[in-house]
Amino acid sequence: MRWTGLVPLALAAALSSAPAFARETLDEAAVHVRELISYRAFHTGVLMSVFPEDAQVPTPGLPFGLQEYYAEYPDSEGDILLLAMPIAAIYRNALPPNPPNLTLTVNDMWGFGDGNLAAGRMRVALYGTLERVVGDEEVDKCHKAYLAAHPDARGWIGADGPHSNFFARMRVNKVYAFNGFGDVAYIGWVPLDLYRASGAKMRSEKEAHRDWPVPRQPEEAGVAALFGERVGVSEEVAEDEEGKTKKEGRFRIQW
Ligand SMILES: *[C@@H]1O[C@H](CO)[C@@H](O)[C@H](O)[C@H]1NC(C)=O
Repeated sequence: MRWTGLVPLALAAALSSAPAFARETLDEAAVHVRELISYRAFHTGVLMSVFPEDAQVPTPGLPFGLQEYYAEYPDSEGDILLLAMPIAAIYRNALPPNPPNLTLTVNDMWGFGDGNLAAGRMRVALYGTLERVVGDEEVDKCHKAYLAAHPDARGWIGADGPHSNFFARMRVNKVYAFNGFGDVAYIGWVPLDLYRASGAKMRSEKEAHRDWPVPRQPEEAGVAALFGERVGVSEEVAEDEEGKTKKEGRFRIQW
């Protein structure tokens, strides 16, 4: 799979209503989503649930989300492994008697830094249900998978941990991908079958780090044109050698 994101942006500016170059296909997007989850998010995301209407909190009925660790559920084709701690409201909201529904959003964090902002970066929302992992063998498999993703979590796992905890499988049932700006990237639902099957097409971790759709920034000419006006362009003005003033972008891509 070759990524073609950085073709001349002037072209995009000239054709603001039609894509000027190949847009990421749904098939490609599904593979990118799987690679993002496995290789580019440090196995962290924002885990969300909804407070029950009668919850004794200042925010009943509202969604609540915080950063959480995850791992890939072993041999599952895209399910998520969590270390559930009922002391945490996000998990409690998805434990009986509440419905088991959870949402996990995962962002592309690889190479994130100065001048490399989030607007054009890939992110995905996984919807699913929480299911306690049972059986010594299965728990053991999960323990290994979780520690491989998060060695620093060893003190929290099992009976010796500070809080009651158990491994849980987040069985994914819906996937929404936002893979970047819509002229070059897929934005929309990814059919579950495709999401699961795309695991077989994933590249190596190294390749997914090295060759990746370059996140574009809102002030790039083509992107701004797509929105019909100047978007995110800094008001900073610099003088060039001839003394003419020119606008300078606030951010640069640093790859
Ligand atoms: C919530 O979880 C249940 C599984 O118990 C599932 O059937 C249902 O589809 C989920 N709700 C949504 C909106 O996905």
